[in-house]
Amino acid sequence: MNWLRGYDDIVERDVPLADLTWFRLGGTARLVAQPNSVDQLAGLMERALERDVPVKVLGRGANVLVRDSGFDGLVIRLNDDSLTRFEIDGERVIAGAGADLMKLVQACSRAGLAGLEGLAGIPGTVGGAIRMNAGGRFGEISDCVETVDVVQPDGSGRTIQKDQVGFGYRRTALGDAIVTGTTFRLNRDEPVRVYRQFKECWQIKKEAQPLADHSAGCVFTNPPGESAGRLIDRAGLKGRASGGARVSQRHANFIVADRGATATDVLRLIDQIRQTVSEQFGTELQLELDIW
Ligand code: EPU
Repeated sequence: MNWLRGYDDIVERDVPLADLTWFRLGGTARLVAQPNSVDQLAGLMERALERDVPVKVLGRGANVLVRDSGFDGLVIRLNDDSLTRFEIDGERVIAGAGADLMKLVQACSRAGLAGLEGLAGIPGTVGGAIRMNAGGRFGEISDCVETVDVVQPDGSGRTIQKDQVGFGYRRTALGDAIVTGTTFRLNRDEPVRVYRQFKECWQIKKEAQPLADHSAGCVFTNPPGESAGRLIDRAGLKGRASGGARVSQRHANFIVADRGATATDVLRLIDQIRQTVSEQFGTELQLELDIW
């Protein structure tokens, strides 16, 4: 592929994506690139835009379902050391988009920096968590953000102040820009206290959610003032299966994939859940899960 001249050493073709996602389902990507720097990422994005090639970023694959037919485009992985680092500087933390969110949250809590401990147990990368404003009962990642660095589809870089990111419930207004890094502002506190809170939040999550199974976290966003899990549970759908996909007994907003499941099984089950909840409660559930 001519348009990728100069990038051959960082691009692979026809890469199976299943093992790169928490669901462990789905087909292959036409191209997967692992840029060594933000500049290299910018160059790739510019070329892809010129060629009209769709681009997606894959972090830890914790919130993604890849269709069985795969993804006919360019998948970016921000795995290079320069993009997975984070650094604590006083009450500020500067993190690459590829940094592991759980490691970051744990390290900050241990260091007595308060603010992110409520995100304990949320899987993914910093970039993925920023893009969807990951969070839960104890807060959202946006609570602690100061700035977000992005590369735009035309290859230009920008640092965006928090109030310009468009953070909302599980959303941002970042569009097709790719997050490359984030600066957080935390509060100095007693390390023992922050770390205890971190552990408590994680424990609560482990008790309520099927974290050992193959899933991708909550499938639907919560409707205003309601919990999608509670609605699906009240509709009697716990344990409902479609092929190898079934609604978790532990938390009804999780779909777990058993051995032999396909992405099509999950998609069928999603349709059934939506239809049943709509019929019983008149609520149209919206996907939190990102379907490729
Ligand atoms: N509930 C049920 N049955 C279920 C699940 C929940 O009755 O199967 C009830 C619970 O008993 C509780 C209420 O529904 O009274 C809310 O449940 P929970 O505390 O588990 O919170 P949630 O609203 O279902 C949200 C986030 C989770 C996050 C938790 C905890 C969304 C879509 N979900 O779930 O986020 O971990 O709060 O902070 O916002 C995710 O985004 O992937 C995710 C797992």
